[in-house]
Amino acid sequence: MSTLKPSQFLMIPGPTPVPSAVLEILARPPIGHRSTEFSNILTAVSKDLQALAQTKEDVFILTGSATLAMEAAISNTISAGDKVLCLVGGAFGERWANIAQAYGARVERLNYQPGTAVDVEQLADKLKADKEKTIKAVTVIHNETSTGVLSDLRQIAHLIRKHGALSLVDAVTSFGAINIPMDEWRVDVMLTGSQKALMLPPGLSMVFFGSRAWAAQATCKSPRFYTDLARYKKSLANNTVPFTANVSFVCALQKSLQLMQEEGLAAIQVRHFKLKAMVRAGVRALGLKLFVDDDFASPTITAILPPDKISVGDIRQALKQDFNIVVADGQESLQGKIFRIGHMGYVFERDILMTLACLHSVLKKLGHDVPAQPAIQAALQAASNK
Ligand SMILES: Cc1ncc(COP(=O)(O)O)c(C=O)c1O
Repeated sequence: MSTLKPSQFLMIPGPTPVPSAVLEILARPPIGHRSTEFSNILTAVSKDLQALAQTKEDVFILTGSATLAMEAAISNTISAGDKVLCLVGGAFGERWANIAQAYGARVERLNYQPGTAVDVEQLADKLKADKEKTIKAVTVIHNETSTGVLSDLRQIAHLIRKHGALSLVDAVTSFGAINIPMDEWRVDVMLTGSQKALMLPPGLSMVFFGSRAWAAQATCKSPRFYTDLARYKKSLANNTVPFTANVSFVCALQKSLQLMQEEGLAAIQVRHFKLKAMVRAGVRALGLKLFVDDDFASPTITAILPPDKISVGDIRQALKQDFNIVVADGQESLQGKIFRIGHMGYVFERDILMTLACLHSVLKKLGHDVPAQPAIQAALQAASNK
């Protein structure tokens, strides 16, 4: 049997495909983390990240996945006994709640139905009812990866600021794919990870930390060492890092940010909304149901229900086996109920057309026989409408 196979193609919501220009930098020998060369790169990358977030606030690069940045956000602002309102509509909203609980916070969950977005009116009522201002912070998932839902961060952050609590925002699967003007939207803390729209492998996370968060940090009693952002701030003032940074990844990040600048954030956003429209139109034309309504569908992840009598496991396995394409299962209670196609970062129209055609082929094999052409036609039509 031939060992020559098509390369694996990741259509999952992270890790995402990495451009070869970025991979080439990762293959270079590491440089010293105390070298002038690295200092210059670190300073440039920090500025580029601030430009992407349109913020004057601080940004720090941590060596660890996005959950480390979530933990840094909590451990620098929340003390045991503080009340934290967690907006929970999926696995990652719940992760915020779990981290806050681990630091002894009094967590209150404001649940919203998985597959729907944060109910802004419900949030407004909740915050209005907190007359004593007991809520110290509100945790938000901008783009809930587990369901493929984008919430209205601009409105949410506005309501939180009006109340006076801190907004702690997970923008892991939205940052770099869509426009998030952090200062204009008055977000206090925002974080992301390298393996999503930033087009790197997993390993780095970035946390933007605003002046109101620093005020909270000054009195925050939570134990912290590696995630103590004051150490990162002090070091960055000297163009360096408190601990050995993942130098190779920071150098590669400089390249991916450069590629993003060349495309431009506005064009990147248009591309992601176009990919979303293509996937949704194509999947509908294949006779499948989407888990999320158009109103709050994510531009980076699409959650799809399998047809009757065909399991998510069978679809995923056939895509892998026949075409070496990987799509994701649902998470936790949604495992086996939906499958998710990621279209974030280094993904283009060709990739969507290819995925739809391959999805058609495996569905047909598994007994869901619909013509392929309408799906491709619908996707192309959706692309030309954008
Ligand atoms: C919205 C969101 N938040 C947090 C995380 C956790 O990131 P990591 O696995 O990089 O720690 C993920 C991972 O997929 C995510 O999608």
